[in-house]
Amino acid sequence: MMETVNVKNIGLRGVIVADTKVSFIDGQEGVLEYRGYRIEDLARNATFPETAYLLLYGTLPNTSQLADFNKQLQEESELPAHLYKTFKCLPADANPMDVLQAGVPLLAMADPELTDDSRDANVRKAVRLIARLPMLIAAWHRIRQGIDPLPSEKSLTHTANFLWQLHGVKPSEKMAQVLDTCLVLHADHTFNASTFSCRQVVSTRAHIYAGVTAGIGALSGSLHGGANAKVMKMLLSLKDENDIAGWVKKQLESGERIMGMGHAVYKTMDPRARFLKEMAVTLGKETGQERLVDLTIQIEYAALAEFEKRGKTEIKPNVDFFSASVYHLLGIPRDLMTPIFAISRIAGWTSHIIEEKTGEAQVKPALYRPKAEYIGQYCGLMGCKFEPLIER
Ligand code: COA
Repeated sequence: MMETVNVKNIGLRGVIVADTKVSFIDGQEGVLEYRGYRIEDLARNATFPETAYLLLYGTLPNTSQLADFNKQLQEESELPAHLYKTFKCLPADANPMDVLQAGVPLLAMADPELTDDSRDANVRKAVRLIARLPMLIAAWHRIRQGIDPLPSEKSLTHTANFLWQLHGVKPSEKMAQVLDTCLVLHADHTFNASTFSCRQVVSTRAHIYAGVTAGIGALSGSLHGGANAKVMKMLLSLKDENDIAGWVKKQLESGERIMGMGHAVYKTMDPRARFLKEMAVTLGKETGQERLVDLTIQIEYAALAEFEKRGKTEIKPNVDFFSASVYHLLGIPRDLMTPIFAISRIAGWTSHIIEEKTGEAQVKPALYRPKAEYIGQYCGLMGCKFEPLIER
């Protein structure tokens, strides 16, 4: 007999459904660690490929391991020909998150190891996904503008190559480094909605690409990764607004949320937001676009003051609040902000999928199957009387 826990927990808040060794959060203290390393240390000192290696393999790479990993990322970045053909048939105004979600199964169809569910094969598939997702986004961005995607530039780093493919201009070292740090900051976040979606899907023994496709769908929502694009929309709509405090008050009074603020786990400032705020301020000064960053900070302070009045002092900026202005200052279009979240989170998703599939952190992985309380029509165990169509 299966044990039944008769506690209704809407949204599964605080419910432990698995063990993990991938990352750790202390929501009260505002701490995030990947494989035991603080996010601040990684953001200051590690590159995105180094961080992805750490998440996938569980240890920091040495020089030759990192060189080899970077080489693999370069070698695996080519997209299959059928993906370009398919993308050319899509409507130019398609949402890039939908295109990304549609693109992942196209990558699956080209993977010769698709049905090999061994750990080694899944790590190789993870590397392909980390290498190809940025290429896929850049390819779509060019195809939708009616221009041909660019081939990879082997002399560039993983992140610089993405910016080159996106804009057709080699980025400055500084710009590539800023985006790379953003990718480090977004790479994993324990059992967030999209990671849980990935893990839940592969708990059925579906392949890694099916799990990632589900993760992308979950990430697209505005309460999750989609929030960064909503923050940008808010900033652009408020560009000429003088009364920010009045606007924030009105938003809250009408039951609207301030996007980029609040978190299901953090009850203090999200450590990633603190870091991104510093980056936004520096980048604003360096690019001469302080106005946007000032506006973001004005909204932050006005919202914090309003939340305090309402006794909701735990609502603080999250990762999406300042990443929007950073991405904007890097020349990233608004609708590519959430896909950029995905090209980073793919490292975390795949690490979690492998953990779920191998059971490395659990005694025994199990198919996720929660319960719901049935509150619909009920006529007893014999069921309601079925009336044939003709008699209804
Ligand atoms: N703006 C205004 N009110 C907010 C808010 C925000 N950003 N975040 C939470 N609240 C309020 C809710 O309206 C709710 O108020 P109520 O109790 O009076 O109904 C209360 O705080 C709790 O909200 P709830 O959604 O139940 O809490 P949560 O901890 O699950 O919220 C989020 C987490 C992320 C869903 C929520 O903070 C949110 O919607 N933020 C905006 C979207 C966003 O930035 N998402 C990215 C997350 S990384």
